[in-house]
Amino acid sequence: MERILILDFGSQYTMLIARRIREMNVYCDIVPFNKIPAISPDVKGIVLSGSPSSVRAENAPQPDLSGVPASLPILGICYGAQWLAWKGGGVVAATGGREYGRAILSVKDGQDPLMKEVAPESQVWMSHGDTITSLPESYKVIASTAQVDNAAFRIEGKPIWGIQFHAEVHHSEYGKQILRNFVLGICGCAGNWTPASFIESTVASLKEQIGSDKVVLGLSGGVDSSVAALLLHKAIGSQLHCIFVDSGLLRKDEFTTVLASYKGMGLNVKGVDASARFLGNLAGITDPEAKRKSIGKDFVEVFNAEAEKIEDVRWLAQGTIYPDVIESSAVPGASATIKSHHNVGGLPKDMKLKIVEPLRLLFKDEVRRVGAALGLDPEILGRHPFPGPGLGIRVLGEVTAEKVAILQEADKIFIDALKRWNLYDEVWQAGTILLPIKSVGVMGDERTYEYTIALRAVTSVDGMTADWVRLPYDFLSEVSDKIVRGVKGVNRVVYDICSKPPATIEWE
Ligand code: XMP
Repeated sequence: MERILILDFGSQYTMLIARRIREMNVYCDIVPFNKIPAISPDVKGIVLSGSPSSVRAENAPQPDLSGVPASLPILGICYGAQWLAWKGGGVVAATGGREYGRAILSVKDGQDPLMKEVAPESQVWMSHGDTITSLPESYKVIASTAQVDNAAFRIEGKPIWGIQFHAEVHHSEYGKQILRNFVLGICGCAGNWTPASFIESTVASLKEQIGSDKVVLGLSGGVDSSVAALLLHKAIGSQLHCIFVDSGLLRKDEFTTVLASYKGMGLNVKGVDASARFLGNLAGITDPEAKRKSIGKDFVEVFNAEAEKIEDVRWLAQGTIYPDVIESSAVPGASATIKSHHNVGGLPKDMKLKIVEPLRLLFKDEVRRVGAALGLDPEILGRHPFPGPGLGIRVLGEVTAEKVAILQEADKIFIDALKRWNLYDEVWQAGTILLPIKSVGVMGDERTYEYTIALRAVTSVDGMTADWVRLPYDFLSEVSDKIVRGVKGVNRVVYDICSKPPATIEWE
């Protein structure tokens, strides 16, 4: 499988470089700059990422490229370009001309293969404190901006280029073209890494890896575990044993409908109703983290008890995806601060299971494309993210069966209305929260004293930051009416209008 290697120096944009390359149907790996693997013939080129460091700093990241064949194309971006210039004997300095944001790039050498089909003048995105003030002799300038003469260069006689600007960022008008010129043109990649080819090669390697062993996998109803299950199912059929646990904290009717959908897809799945246990252990707990721990512990114990019933099971499959993989080996820097919550789960310790992670190479939207190609139920494919502890952290304070039931009803009204109004797909995540206070209302001639439901709907890319959705007033009015009229125990509905930060998406 042909690939591009991205050496990560800790830039916040490293993952974006990978996304752009993957969009060309070319596979790429991100590796820390100090952990360069042996360069196999399938590596067609190397990209050096940006970095929050300065090459002038004493502990600046220094890659050892001695194992890289001289014929292999290299593209340095921002810090990568500065490092190439500095390494060759050029001068990188803090000129005071720190540049953040838009600049106009003028192409100086339209014949250079990196600048193919790039307009003579175009907008690029800059984000640098240091500047390459002088290039070594054999380096040739191929593009400049008003402030930066050496905005793009090539080392003459070598397949090595450097660009000061961030081609991977959307605001660089010809950024995609420049990256295409490098990956498809200069590196000569064919661009045939598609969901279909991924499925074919993954199924073949899973078959080989697993042989006739049995595999256990915990399904959550979410996209990742479902796609992992379908891939494994395609590879090893009934040797895959799936377990779907009902914690009693799922959405209304979710356990039965998702279980039926899994069975419909031919999966060998066992549904385990453990709701009484989860709710029992939550009694009296009000602290959010303590609730998470209780739910997580129950989940692991229930899952393990079921897994142990599968005779001779050798593997535990997990729906780990690429951002989780690189996060755990990331270079300290901006990219390393990007953290996400992981779904609850755990490895049955004394069973000594080997781990198989069929999605560890994929980004989230690639998982979705693979899922679609495998025929995953569109209902599951397009589903909003849902936290591992489920409604347990949306009933604020102590969780009781009665409160969960109230929340499930309100949540269903909200989610169904989003779908009916064609708003569901515009929203990244939505849900309802049951507040632990009661307030006064009036219904008919009667004074009521009931709970409040908060509605939450956000747009986001990765859950790290989020903004509240400007839902239409008429929509909010309809949902509020339906909840207050239809859900016993609720007499007030409010809409959360806080972004993240400073608030979070969940209330606990
Ligand atoms: P916050 O509330 O931190 O949520 O803004 C960001 C995203 O993470 C989800 N989330 C969780 N997911 N276990 C999970 O698997 C958790 O304990 C958890 N807490 C929050 C949340 O739903 C949102 O998508």
